[in-house]
Amino acid sequence: MTQQPSMTSDADVRARVESLLTELTTPEKAGQLTQYFYLGFIRNEVADGAPSQPELVEAALTRGGVGSLLFLMDPAEINRLQRLTIEGNRLDIPALVGFDVIHGFRTIMPVPIAMAASWDPSIIEQGQAVAAREARSVGIHWAFAPMVDLARDPRWGRIIEGAGEDPYLASSVAAAQVRGFQGARLGSAERVVAGPKHFAGYGAALGGRDYDESNISDAELWNTYFPPFKAAIDAGAGTIMSAYMDLNGVPAAGNRWLLSDVLRDRLGFNGFVVSDAQAVHDLVTHHFAADLSDAAGRALHAGNDMEMTFADPAFDHLTAAVEDGRVSVETLDDAVRRVLAIKVRLGLFEEPYVDEDTAAEVLADPAHREVAKMAAQRSAVLLRNEGALLPLAVDQLNSIAVIGPLADSPRDTLGPWVFNYDLAETVTVLDGIKARVGDGVRVEFAPGVRPAQRRYPSMFDMWPDNSPVDPADFDDDDEVAKAVELAASSDVAVVVAGEWQNMIGEGASRCSLELPGRQLELIQAVVATGTPVVLLIMNGRPIDLRWPAEHVPAILDIWYPGTHGGHAVAALLFGDDSPGGKLPFSWPRTGGQVPIIYNHTRSHDPENQGRRYWDIESTPLFPFGYGLSYGRFRYHDLTLSSDSVSPDNTITVSATVTNSSGRAAEEVVQLYLHQRYGTSSRPVRELKGFERVAVEPGASVTVEFTVGPAERSYWSAATHDWVIDASVFDVWVGGDSTAGLQATFTVTPA
Ligand code: BGC
Repeated sequence: MTQQPSMTSDADVRARVESLLTELTTPEKAGQLTQYFYLGFIRNEVADGAPSQPELVEAALTRGGVGSLLFLMDPAEINRLQRLTIEGNRLDIPALVGFDVIHGFRTIMPVPIAMAASWDPSIIEQGQAVAAREARSVGIHWAFAPMVDLARDPRWGRIIEGAGEDPYLASSVAAAQVRGFQGARLGSAERVVAGPKHFAGYGAALGGRDYDESNISDAELWNTYFPPFKAAIDAGAGTIMSAYMDLNGVPAAGNRWLLSDVLRDRLGFNGFVVSDAQAVHDLVTHHFAADLSDAAGRALHAGNDMEMTFADPAFDHLTAAVEDGRVSVETLDDAVRRVLAIKVRLGLFEEPYVDEDTAAEVLADPAHREVAKMAAQRSAVLLRNEGALLPLAVDQLNSIAVIGPLADSPRDTLGPWVFNYDLAETVTVLDGIKARVGDGVRVEFAPGVRPAQRRYPSMFDMWPDNSPVDPADFDDDDEVAKAVELAASSDVAVVVAGEWQNMIGEGASRCSLELPGRQLELIQAVVATGTPVVLLIMNGRPIDLRWPAEHVPAILDIWYPGTHGGHAVAALLFGDDSPGGKLPFSWPRTGGQVPIIYNHTRSHDPENQGRRYWDIESTPLFPFGYGLSYGRFRYHDLTLSSDSVSPDNTITVSATVTNSSGRAAEEVVQLYLHQRYGTSSRPVRELKGFERVAVEPGASVTVEFTVGPAERSYWSAATHDWVIDASVFDVWVGGDSTAGLQATFTVTPA
């Protein structure tokens, strides 16, 4: 167990920081603001004589030139480098060790978009607490997570790392993750510092192309893109990562309006800002800064306190930038203060080293696997269940065909952005089904198709297992025929289809949403056998499911479900638990509809669907908030505490949900709001409350929400400020964003 730091009061922290600051020289201060990747695995891959990247970092360590390190996972290695750091600087200041702990460290949770689909802040918090405990056990102090970028264009691969399209849901998910990582406060035992990213607007990349510019109006920034950051800051996040791209023509890492006026002055952030990898260098790449010295000065002046870099830090030029007046000593000192304050709060000075023996025990904790399994169960979304095909009754089955290469791929079961996983303990869908049904049922597997491949390689290919292996001697027609034959001779076929994990994530945008490779053909051939088909979708973005949504009776979105994903999926398939997840985005019919969001404003011709596109419906395939259940829910008795309030007042909205099925199940009760007129046009409806509730068979649960000034206020481009209008409001409560149970109230003028 990591000890609590002895000094935690604000005054103590300040005194310690000030005493260090007075001792530091300008180059040493710049060192505190420099974060290096340590890429140990490329040590042997450089040309004769040239220093390798790790050697460059170690040289910087021994001259006090490093404040933080990233990409280390081994406790002994972390201790070794920490020793070099401390010995290398006069004041024994330890390095802060950061890592991309995105959805688990050794125990892999479902991917972040899946966790958001649970609409369950409690399991999200538990998941990140497990990740924090494992990471901290090896000596990592800081997670570059949560990613709280809103994403409304699923072509953008990083949609998988966030919470989807809606600012209210995303804010709640962001705050839960920060609580999970950090615990009650910065410096809590077995926790890490959270690093929400990427401030701000990265998810609006033009065309969904990763790193491309974002052009976002002020109203959109304040109403849509900033709120999840605000929620993370209010939850106490210690750091924020700035983004790569140009926001409205100014690169985020050099954008003073963004990083100082908004982030610090308006959103109240008082931790430190780290750049994204090489993003200070990028100020030159973007043709914004003249050279690295200009980049360093402008990044720091903008409010970007720490530079993340592979080598050749721009911040090595900070001494010159201070000397020539490009950046003030006060600005430099403020940045150093923020970094040192976190090191003091974490207790790093008292305990810079990690206990190498306890890590193995923490990483093996079976309780962590239980959390991962529960998270996977809670995040699955049932998209279709014609004729109540699901749940399957084990006692009525003799045989199950499990089809599709993703059904038995441990690496893909985990999803992208994981590095310390153990494939041997990963439970695939095939493993999970076999374990659940036991010996009495014949379970056979046929891949049917070969794994699809990216046209261009992935930036993560330097890690083993990242790209699926193209099997030798694979006869495509023959394999489809085998899968079809297996399906035809089985009682039910479970087909797993989706994207391979290297097709989604950073640097993994795509222009179409179709199932890659020959998977649709495979699904069609299996359906044609007449055997009932359950389709499991493994994904981090919506996929074009127009054909399956008409022809496959049961479709369950299992995302990339993590270490114990197969067990979770089996529990849902066989009815040990009911799916209760809901979509965190509107699911388009096809890529050409993108972006499609539920909370758009009304148009000139709101009712006329056929004037939007003449060749396709203007509605999504599945709406935001949608997800079926084995329970049967009916909403009724929507009541308001009052039908008229003044602008400062709050009304209480309650509604009852009844489960008329014979099964216990959970439902996410959602509240949507719409303002009929005001200073700006307002969205047709906006999520303003939700609660995931358990409802016993035949029982009812009444849920209460409050709608007050916070739910009604918005930033208007008419006044360039926040407003709360007197108006008429519609409120709906139901199980998705098309909820029909509606009431009205009036907000009277003040
Ligand atoms: C990503 C960040 C990540 C960083 C460090 C960057 O390419 O954009 O999200 O934290 O790398 O791995």
